[in-house]
Amino acid sequence: MARVAYVNGRYVPFAQAKVHVEDRGFQFADGVYEVVALKDGNLVDCDGHVTRLERSLRELRMVMPLPRRVLELVMREMMHRNQVNTGLLYLQVTRGAARRDFGFPRRTAPTLVITVRPKRVFVPETLVDQGIRVITIPDIRWKRRDIKSVALLPQVLGKQRAIDAGAFEAWQVDDHGYVTEGCSSNAWIVTTDGTLVTRHADNEILNGITRLSILDLAKAAGFGVQIRPFTVEEAHNAREAFMTSASTFVLPITRIDDRPIGDGRPGPLGQQLRQAYIGLADGRST
Ligand code: PDD
Repeated sequence: MARVAYVNGRYVPFAQAKVHVEDRGFQFADGVYEVVALKDGNLVDCDGHVTRLERSLRELRMVMPLPRRVLELVMREMMHRNQVNTGLLYLQVTRGAARRDFGFPRRTAPTLVITVRPKRVFVPETLVDQGIRVITIPDIRWKRRDIKSVALLPQVLGKQRAIDAGAFEAWQVDDHGYVTEGCSSNAWIVTTDGTLVTRHADNEILNGITRLSILDLAKAAGFGVQIRPFTVEEAHNAREAFMTSASTFVLPITRIDDRPIGDGRPGPLGQQLRQAYIGLADGRST
């Protein structure tokens, strides 16, 4: 089955998919994106991702490149044309191709690209069974992290620091010593008294769609939840820690910097929430 990309209204062979050299996504990172998990033919949390896409575009004074219903049809069609049941769908919208000037171009159509990538297993079982390691690094990003912008250079550098250190993710830390979020995930801890803690969603973090669903699931399960910042020190001393994102769902963290978390094994709350989210991903076909 040949891989297909969607580019500006056309389904094209992946190897021939192209955007213009003066696309503003390439020249200015003037665009936004979404990553949606595909699980057994379901677009996981699709509604939430499309709603956040609308918001990100609005914040950049852009409009949806297609009506919402049509966009969702194209997303589904991409799954079928590529015969991918389980994997990731990537969607990027930029302000379009225009002569390189900083101000917005007039009457330029946006660029819309959608690709899908198959995955044999969603997340390797060893990561889930053993948990992952994160390192902590300074947060050097701009002040509008609530927009899912394609300007990801700080996260690229941060993730590479994690890889170089043999870790899976880097948690970014603000000037006051509080964790903001991972380079491509939200950050969570469970305190020694069993309370689930995650940072409040303002302009300092991306309000993860997985984060929002996990908050709902945690409340439904009767867990105590606090929406507040936590320090690196609090994380080092936590009973459990985990990260959430569309591409990993819930991943247990068993080491932060050089400190084992809890007893050094994935904790029960994170595991329960992971199972609950998998249930939601399997059941919620939008
Ligand atoms: N990243 N925070 C940041 C900075 C992110 O880039 C992401 C997602 C999240 C989690 O959001 P969500 O639950 O909606 O995926 C939080 C995606 C997966 C990526 O860039 O690959």
